[in-house]
Amino acid sequence: MSTSATIDNMSVADSNESLLAIPLSSFRTSYLQCDIYIQREKNGIPVLYRRRSHPLEEADLERLHKRGIRTLYISKSNEEAFRRQIDEEVLQNESIPLDERYRELLKINEAVFVQAFRGGKLDDLVRFSDKFACQLSELVCRHDLIVDELFAIMEFDNGTYTHSVNVATYCLLLADRLGITDTAELKYIAAGALLHDIGKRHVQLAVLNSPSPLTAEQRKHIQQHPTMGFRELALRKDQTWGQMMMTYEHHERVDGSGYPTGIKGNEIHPWARICSIADVFHALTSKRPYKAAMSTDEALAVIKKQSGTSFDMEMVKCWNTTLKKIPCLMA
Ligand SMILES: [Fe+2]
Ligand SMILES: [Fe+2]
Repeated sequence: MSTSATIDNMSVADSNESLLAIPLSSFRTSYLQCDIYIQREKNGIPVLYRRRSHPLEEADLERLHKRGIRTLYISKSNEEAFRRQIDEEVLQNESIPLDERYRELLKINEAVFVQAFRGGKLDDLVRFSDKFACQLSELVCRHDLIVDELFAIMEFDNGTYTHSVNVATYCLLLADRLGITDTAELKYIAAGALLHDIGKRHVQLAVLNSPSPLTAEQRKHIQQHPTMGFRELALRKDQTWGQMMMTYEHHERVDGSGYPTGIKGNEIHPWARICSIADVFHALTSKRPYKAAMSTDEALAVIKKQSGTSFDMEMVKCWNTTLKKIPCLMA
């Protein structure tokens, strides 16, 4: 790293600029339309690392990696420009394989989503999810992204981010299979899925991350999340009815055995019926402290068993067809 390109020990604490964490691996040598900050010590205040006018070179990235640096920071006011650049240079770049672009999209959005979900403002989370949903639906609903490639790169833990992204990805695959082709509709479905558990922001972390199965009282508390999420979204003017219903009705079941209201069949919004399959499928295939993850075919068998009782029969058929296209998983 040339000394002229680096301004050491310049604290950003006084500048009132809030910073955004970006994984080091998301930086490319050509990405440099914003100043970059670095945290030199654990829990230290990030300081200016590189001005936008100085190029970031491959050797710099390697050096940072060797030093154990995995995160760099940019100013929040540069977020828009940074994302636009990633969008143009990576996500829309036809020479980069689609599965790599999907992985990049997930990586670049993780820190912001997690930050916004716990503690951030609802407004930031909603607007962020909207942009994220556009990019996700564009990648997932292109028919040249093969479903088994997608499954091969997906994570299967039960963190909020993985859950939200996987549910959104499954919703898009299922919506696509159901014949929904309208770009705006697909984007709304993806955004609704990213926010379907938004009410969990009000559930105590100790309950959410409980290492053992929930008590009846804890279950009652957690079952309020669809209502809490719906109430918040309903106060806004930028949510479609379908998106709000994905939040409110994703735990309803077609036989009326779900919550919060116990409505049945077609009374449940179709996007919420899509979301309920995606939601349960991800819950079954992810591991929890008290249970192992099911394989894809085991989880599909559970969903099929509840076809017509918990889940919409037609949608279960479509989900089955989608997964049957993954020969390595269904062997
Ligand atoms: Fe939920
Ligand atoms: Fe969920």
